[in-house]
Amino acid sequence: MLWSLACAAPSLPAFRAATHFGVNVLGSEHRDLSVRFARGARDKFAGVAYALGEYGVPLIDGAAAHFECRIVDRYYGGDHEIFLGRVERYHYEHKPTLLFCHGAYHRAHPLDEDV
Ligand SMILES: Cc1cc2nc3c(=O)[nH]c(=O)nc-3n(C[C@H](O)[C@H](O)[C@H](O)COP(=O)(O)O)c2cc1C
Repeated sequence: MLWSLACAAPSLPAFRAATHFGVNVLGSEHRDLSVRFARGARDKFAGVAYALGEYGVPLIDGAAAHFECRIVDRYYGGDHEIFLGRVERYHYEHKPTLLFCHGAYHRAHPLDEDV
């Protein structure tokens, strides 16, 4: 799994020093939580219910999926740094997930439900 982090992000040193990162796939009811994490804050996890995974990464309660990844490489990506992780543990639930596209939040659901 790969993702990129802005080189100006205050959290970049912490991710560079880490051996693992966690990915939380939010459910469609988690819009406010997503907005919170999309903004700068001293402690984004304050008041958020989560548990620490086997490798110390935060896994948010009620997320549609969790991935615990070992960082295997980092790449230069211009104004972002690209992190590549090997998925070592995961968990998922069948529930509608939150999407952000065209500048707005959406609920992901199968096209079959439209017919
Ligand atoms: C939908 C969405 C996706 C985003 N994706 C990224 C991303 O992939 N990498 C990134 O560095 N910032 C991304 N951002 C911007 C960060 O959320 C924003 O810069 C935030 O302030 C970062 O927090 P920090 O300043 O505490 O690092 C995204 C924002 C939104 C709304």
